[in-house]
Amino acid sequence: MGLLVRSLVVLLMILLSACLPIIRAQSRSSSARVLDSVLQDYAYRAFVRPRTGVPFDGTVPANLTGIKVSGMRLRSGSLRSRGVKSYKEFEIPVGVVVQPYVERLVLVYQNLGNWSSTFYPLSGYMYLAPVLGLLAYDAVNLSATNLSELDIRASINPIKIHFSNVQSVPDGSVARCLWFDLRGNVNFSNVVSKNTCATVQQGHFALVVERTAPSPAPSLAPAPSQVSHKKKRNTKKIWIIVGSVLGGILLLVLLGMLLVCLKKYRRKKKMQHMEKASDVGEALRMTSVGSGKAPAAMVTRTQPSLETEYAP
Ligand SMILES: *[C@@H]1O[C@H](CO)[C@@H](O)[C@H](O)[C@H]1NC(C)=O
Ligand SMILES: *[C@@H]1O[C@H](CO)[C@@H](O)[C@H](O)[C@H]1NC(C)=O
Ligand SMILES: *[C@@H]1O[C@H](CO)[C@@H](O)[C@H](O)[C@H]1NC(C)=O
Ligand SMILES: *[C@@H]1O[C@H](CO)[C@@H](O)[C@H](O)[C@H]1NC(C)=O
Ligand SMILES: *[C@@H]1O[C@H](CO)[C@@H](O)[C@H](O)[C@H]1NC(C)=O
Repeated sequence: MGLLVRSLVVLLMILLSACLPIIRAQSRSSSARVLDSVLQDYAYRAFVRPRTGVPFDGTVPANLTGIKVSGMRLRSGSLRSRGVKSYKEFEIPVGVVVQPYVERLVLVYQNLGNWSSTFYPLSGYMYLAPVLGLLAYDAVNLSATNLSELDIRASINPIKIHFSNVQSVPDGSVARCLWFDLRGNVNFSNVVSKNTCATVQQGHFALVVERTAPSPAPSLAPAPSQVSHKKKRNTKKIWIIVGSVLGGILLLVLLGMLLVCLKKYRRKKKMQHMEKASDVGEALRMTSVGSGKAPAAMVTRTQPSLETEYAP
């Protein structure tokens, strides 16, 4: 019984640890993340004859016209010790650290152009300039697709984003910076100087201003579409958990039944074995002739004594 309980607990732990990654993977699959993956592919395709530290502009598929993508390959050591003075709108200072360690990385630049509000919808705010992205990937295989991002962190000074082609800010409004991290979190911050934002991490960046016209009290909360997305995700999560737990219980019951059956089967087998053994014992005793307890098998084999009897 103790063994049964212990094995059930182990099984439950295995089930729980197996269902956690599913939940994590679920919450990361939004259309913007799919776009990141597509743009990584198209940025890497631009590296026909790659040179280190030079931006290469990629070509996006026709159904994404309006989005710009580039890739720049760098040694992680030189990124850290020298930074990049200017990569499109980004100014990367010294001290940017890459985790986990790779020898070379690619910084993929995205400019979402007129697709900004399609992939990053906002309510209560409007974009003053297209959403920009800066994402880091391993450069070891330039034909790789579906890569996951490396983590980059500015450890000394922040990375600066100098937005260009910025719409003029309406009177009385103040432009703010918006940062979308890769997990779908949104953070506001103040501009560090005119049209310039700062970040210590990768992600997507925008310059926004509150929409003042119709809504009297715009809130800092994320867009309603994102909230409903989150709700949907949460209910999905709950269903996954409920499903996993029910499945787990079912599995445990089945396992218990299996164990009981196994025990029964073993007992039955043992009984059969014992019965058989006694049968054989009886047969042996019956076949044994004269010199006590000779095994039955020897009796059924050719007997040299009989051969000599029939010899001519
Ligand atoms: C663009 O077209 C590709 C197929 O060529 C398709 O897989 C993808 O979903 C399309 N993307 C958009 C945003 O329509
Ligand atoms: C963005 O503009 C291009 C043309 O420059 C157009 O083909 C595309 O449909 C536009 N995208 C959106 C989301 O409006
Ligand atoms: C690079 O990635 C491509 C696509 O995933 C793969 O076919 C190829 O084998 C990889 N090359 C190396 C050297 O790993
Ligand atoms: C991309 O990778 C994820 C796991 O990292 C996997 O679930 C997905 O199927 C992959 N997609 C493609 C098109 O290979
Ligand atoms: C982002 O905002 C959340 C609250 O909205 C805060 O807890 C978190 O520390 C912020 N992250 C960064 C990196 O500023």
